[in-house]
Amino acid sequence: MAQDNNTWSGRFSEPVAELVKRYTASVDFDRRLAPYDIKGSLAHAEMLAACGIISPDDLADIRRGLAQIESEIASGDFEWSLDLEDVHLNIEKRLTHLVGDAGKRLHTGRSRNDQVATDVRLYLRAAMDDLLSLIRALQSAILDLAEKHTHTIMPGFTHLQVAQPISFAHHLMAYHEMMSRDAERLRDARRRVNRLPLGSAALAGTSYPIDRRMVADLLGFEGLCENSLDAVSDRDFAIEFTSAAALIMTHLSRFSEELILWMSPMVGFIDIADRFCTGSSIMPQKKNPDVPELVRGKTGRIHGHLVSLLTLMKGQPLAYNKDNQEDKEPLFDTVDTLTQTLRIYADMIAGIRVKPDAMRRAALQGYATATDLADYLVKKGLPFRDAHEAVALAVRHAEQKGCDLSGIGLSELREFSSLIEEDVYGVLTLEGSLASRNHIGGTAPEQVAAAIARARRT
Ligand code: ARG
Repeated sequence: MAQDNNTWSGRFSEPVAELVKRYTASVDFDRRLAPYDIKGSLAHAEMLAACGIISPDDLADIRRGLAQIESEIASGDFEWSLDLEDVHLNIEKRLTHLVGDAGKRLHTGRSRNDQVATDVRLYLRAAMDDLLSLIRALQSAILDLAEKHTHTIMPGFTHLQVAQPISFAHHLMAYHEMMSRDAERLRDARRRVNRLPLGSAALAGTSYPIDRRMVADLLGFEGLCENSLDAVSDRDFAIEFTSAAALIMTHLSRFSEELILWMSPMVGFIDIADRFCTGSSIMPQKKNPDVPELVRGKTGRIHGHLVSLLTLMKGQPLAYNKDNQEDKEPLFDTVDTLTQTLRIYADMIAGIRVKPDAMRRAALQGYATATDLADYLVKKGLPFRDAHEAVALAVRHAEQKGCDLSGIGLSELREFSSLIEEDVYGVLTLEGSLASRNHIGGTAPEQVAAAIARARRT
């Protein structure tokens, strides 16, 4: 612990209690904002100098000092002090130690309230850009796998009961579609993250002749936060991001649930590469899908972080309150968890071994083409409800015989409807069923291939 925090000692008659110091300090976790804090300080100092609020010599000193601090932090030589509460005061104190009065002038026209809001936005903007490229990488792993399986037939499910045949590629592309919306949500939220709070000072703005647009331009912000009270107090941008993250995890959790199910020996549709699984300490035969299980599990904590942030905000009067210091840990953990999850997921998808025979067997077992038979009868003039009933009876018959619908002979089939003719077997095959759903969004191989091609282009 280097120095005592005498930043506001003039006003107080006794030092802060040790326990309180520990309770209120954030430096243990907000130090990760240091690179953004330095960027923000540099832009602020440039502006102060350009507006004649500090001298060119002060600016030169501040630049030199912050450059040294940046390299001390990067090399691990920086001495963080709990007494200095947070990342902002740690850096400012060190700057003053290094360059003297210029360091003390840096905080002119600024408060930690607009400073921290700026830091968090800069941090989050960079994190969102990284996450967007990770989503893109996962999407391309999905496309690579889907491309090979437009003709691989599996049962599609509703209520986890065999419903209709689909291609494995079509199933995978559903997740690709979800990820596209996930990315869209992040890009949209990014526009609202990317606004500059600096200049709002503590809450009401500042009496110095500042140039906020200059600071925004230097930091790459698209615009300014246009009300100083709002700028220092609201964290809705972080909540929006966490909400988008919670949805991404929800999608990945659903995907994981399916991978786990598909890998169960009872289903056996896929195998996940060994490097994503673990064995059991007692049961020698086990190969457990730990990674998808953990993704499903970690989804819970991201949902929790969303609720934490919403609850953190809900009772706060304007403007800044110390409550907001609690935004960081949930936000950081959301970014970290999502980053690791997306990174590992793309690799896991690339390593999936597909077992088309097992998929096909399952599709054949579940009367997956029953709807096709009903549609066949409708096209021959039978009202759909009557067709539905006729096919239900045929399925019952097949069940008793222990065969698939296509295993029932023509004369037997005609007992359920005299409209049935020889051409019925064309629609009773899995391939015929897929090929007939030939429209945008349908499972026909031609359509799915086109969807993959469209996805590749965007
Ligand atoms: N560590 C604080 C936070 O994370 C910085 C802002 C402190 N402002 C204040 N008025 N105490 O929110």
